[in-house]
Amino acid sequence: ADVPVITIDGPTASGKGTLADEVAHELGYWILDSGALYRATGLAASRAGIDLDDAQAVAAVARGLDLHFRKGRATLAGEDVTEALRAEATGLMASQVAAHQPVRDALQQLQLDFRRAPGLVADGRDMGTAIFPDAGLKVFLTASAATRAERRHKQLISKGISASIEGLRADLEARDARDKSRSASPLKPAADALSLDNSAQTIEESRDLLLRWWAERG
Ligand code: C5P
Repeated sequence: ADVPVITIDGPTASGKGTLADEVAHELGYWILDSGALYRATGLAASRAGIDLDDAQAVAAVARGLDLHFRKGRATLAGEDVTEALRAEATGLMASQVAAHQPVRDALQQLQLDFRRAPGLVADGRDMGTAIFPDAGLKVFLTASAATRAERRHKQLISKGISASIEGLRADLEARDARDKSRSASPLKPAADALSLDNSAQTIEESRDLLLRWWAERG
């Protein structure tokens, strides 16, 4: 466990994934997008016709997850699901299955296995609180709901998908409310996390601030 870890937790569309990618790239570290594991579990369970409220059945799906990441693409049981994983509907399914403790238990070891030399940047909701409590740097990344909805809107538009900002904001606030209020590893800052509101920051500014925090600790 002396492989260094940086955790970035925070609400939906706060920019965790982009920031994690940037920081990992600069440091030459591995990356764990833990949300993708919950998304894949939700997608696989729903495709198998399993009731997403059935904790044990969904946990069995999580244990048998045939998920692979390679060259920026994700495959599930051999099928390319890169786009399907990013869909808003998949995010909602993820948050539904993520509320079950047996599902979280089923995905724990898989997440720990991402910790390999020279280091790891892990993003999600409970990276600093539950999965990597000994991380050398824990960041809690936030941005206003308006900013997050606007960023998500831009992302979708750039992919040629139309959506209303108001609808996106309602969806992400509903997802955040569920993630914060659940009893299994709720979304909350670790006691020793540094908080960063990036509403008015560019990605480069956030990245450089994190790298400075990391250098100060090393
Ligand atoms: O970050 P992302 O939007 O991909 O996460 C999708 C959902 O997966 C979240 O809304 C949350 O419910 C769940 N999740 C979680 N724990 C994590 C990562 C994601 O519960 N570490």
